[in-house]
Amino acid sequence: MSDNILTKLEDGIFYVTINRLDKKNAITNEMYLELIDAVNEYEANDDARVLLLTGDKMCFTAGNDMVDFLECPPVDDNSPSPAFLRTLSQAKKPLMAAVNGPVVGIGATMLMHFDLVYAGASAKFNMPFCNLGLCPEGGTTLLLPQVIGHKKACELIMFGESFDAKTAKECGFINDHFNDDEYLDKIISKAKRLAAQPASSIRLTKHMLKRSHAQAMGDTLYYEGQEIRKSLKTPESKEAISAFMDKRRPDFLQFN
Ligand code: COA
Repeated sequence: MSDNILTKLEDGIFYVTINRLDKKNAITNEMYLELIDAVNEYEANDDARVLLLTGDKMCFTAGNDMVDFLECPPVDDNSPSPAFLRTLSQAKKPLMAAVNGPVVGIGATMLMHFDLVYAGASAKFNMPFCNLGLCPEGGTTLLLPQVIGHKKACELIMFGESFDAKTAKECGFINDHFNDDEYLDKIISKAKRLAAQPASSIRLTKHMLKRSHAQAMGDTLYYEGQEIRKSLKTPESKEAISAFMDKRRPDFLQFN
């Protein structure tokens, strides 16, 4: 495993940390594969009772690496990013996340597959799919309307506007938020509490809560994966991603 994804097991908590701060923790294809390995290692280890995903204390992730989007986009369902999202969606043991600062794109999408999500007060969530000429991915079109309703989901995705931790809590996107200087400690103590609960009961509860939409989730991941692969080939998305790399505003008016 590279230094971009760090793991450690302590007190029953399997910590997974995204660690590529010079690129705002943007996730590359290689990092998705490492994240899959981490989740699989957690699932297989009986001593690991809770997975806690974090980034830097003040930056969760800027989402998919833009260079990879341009140079090696996903080609099928087994490409690294869809495979990672599928792995999360099928995890049998509890998944917790602690986020702060930028929580962008797949960084926000993936949280919908987590069972418990807590944030620092400076978290800024953003799902800029439409701003990038793309469409939602990773089960968003199934899970987001369930969590926050159709209209709020449209607002967040169509305008691609950022929302803060308070809004995220109010609309049920996260469980709670805490001050920047104390959020990690608070979340770790929650993870310890969960790790001390009867493991079989927690796993069964998770299974029961998710079973009614397991089939729909598989179908949605497949459908959204096909659509986002198509949208990554459009001139609009290429313009948006190139504009980000060139640090300029995209010009969508050149396309009909
Ligand atoms: N992919 C690749 N590189 C990224 C990246 C991404 N998703 N997000 C940030 N970076 C890189 C920047 O290119 C920059 O690299 P450089 O120092 O070599 O120029 C570095 O990370 C710092 O980013 P910068 O934009 O200067 O930081 P910021 O604090 O001003 O802004 C963000 C932080 C997260 C708000 C901003 O980087 C951003 O909007 N990123 C794109 C997020 C996005 O649209 N992701 C969606 C993917 S679906």
